[in-house]
Amino acid sequence: MRSPAPRVTLADGYSISRIVVGAWQLSEGHTPEKPRRKVVFEAFGRMADAGLTTFDCADIYTGVEELLGEFRRCRAQASPTVQIHTKFVPDRDSLPSLDKPHVERIINRSLKRLGAEQLDLVQFAWWDYSVPGYVETALWLADLQRSGKIRHIGATNFDTPRLAEIVEAGVRVVAHQVQYSLLDHRPENGMVDFCHEHDIHLLCYGSLAGGFLTDRWLGTEEPGEPLPNRSLTKYRLIIDEFGGWAFFQDLLKTVRGIADKHGVSIGAVAIRYVLDRPQVAAAIVGARNDKYLQENLDAFSLQLDQEDADRLDEVLSRRTGPGGEPFGLERMPGSPHAGIMRYNLNRG
Ligand SMILES: NC(=O)c1ccc[n+]([C@@H]2O[C@H](COP(=O)([O-])OP(=O)(O)OC[C@H]3O[C@@H](n4cnc5c(N)ncnc54)[C@H](OP(=O)(O)O)[C@@H]3O)[C@@H](O)[C@H]2O)c1
Repeated sequence: MRSPAPRVTLADGYSISRIVVGAWQLSEGHTPEKPRRKVVFEAFGRMADAGLTTFDCADIYTGVEELLGEFRRCRAQASPTVQIHTKFVPDRDSLPSLDKPHVERIINRSLKRLGAEQLDLVQFAWWDYSVPGYVETALWLADLQRSGKIRHIGATNFDTPRLAEIVEAGVRVVAHQVQYSLLDHRPENGMVDFCHEHDIHLLCYGSLAGGFLTDRWLGTEEPGEPLPNRSLTKYRLIIDEFGGWAFFQDLLKTVRGIADKHGVSIGAVAIRYVLDRPQVAAAIVGARNDKYLQENLDAFSLQLDQEDADRLDEVLSRRTGPGGEPFGLERMPGSPHAGIMRYNLNRG
């Protein structure tokens, strides 16, 4: 019998599971295959029963807020209860003209899609720092929080100076969603320390690099284009920054050695590694079904020791990147990372 999945308190009276189930994988923008409602509800129900009660979506993940809202309603009588985190991602084209009514419209739409009176956590994103307004917009979200529509405010993909501006303006940010993994250590370049000082929890995507950081890719040839989904397309570019495919295979072999020692999968080691980083509240692990549930739950009982840390440090010391702030490469005009972004999915 497994011990209960661990939880973490994000704010007074609000706790989440330390693995958050990511639902971008259910949106048509991610994977062409349409999710089958019944299959998803049953799989997500088993995850919630196993203690993974927190789900992540966004206003730009087409159809997913509605799906998760319905899932939560179907589970209304079941225990434990479900938390749904969404994001407010205004279109890049709308940023220059964004005003408070527009923000309220999008938040109202998320409430309606989720069938909720209050959003548990709204993670705010801003595509382009050259357009002013992110602090003002965050303050409008704080107004909506005061009016009861939002329980907690979070951020996603900000760099440290811009997140600091929002915090200094008086917005209580409880969580910041960033990419953080064995492949991507950019939060360590200032963000982790800032979040520690301001009691902001990190919620981390990319912990499995879209599935690359699992046994599935150990010993395989470098995959060609096109890759099966948007997540793999995104993290393939991170592997290039990390040092390329052959070096990535060195990392996978090292992780496999550690996984063998503990009798778990590569994915479980990759998730545990992220959960052990300072300031990390949860790893967000994407799912289309519960195929990997049991092996990913192994991350909770796994304890990495000093020998494991030394083996990982040895490989990681040879990485070439990615460097800079979280999401810095993704914001850099002309970079391959920026080239795959879709900036206007909200149509709010
Ligand atoms: N804020 C942002 O900008 C942002 C960006 C990206 C993602 N996110 C959030 O983070 C969530 C996670 O997305 P991600 O792109 O980072 O993906 P991820 O969690 O790194 O990878 C998830 C995928 O890995 C595969 N997988 C999971 N466990 C596995 C295992 N044990 N063995 C083999 N394969 C396994 C599955 O793919 P298959 O089902 O295809 O096998 C799964 O869909 C998203 O759903 C979203 O909520 C946020």
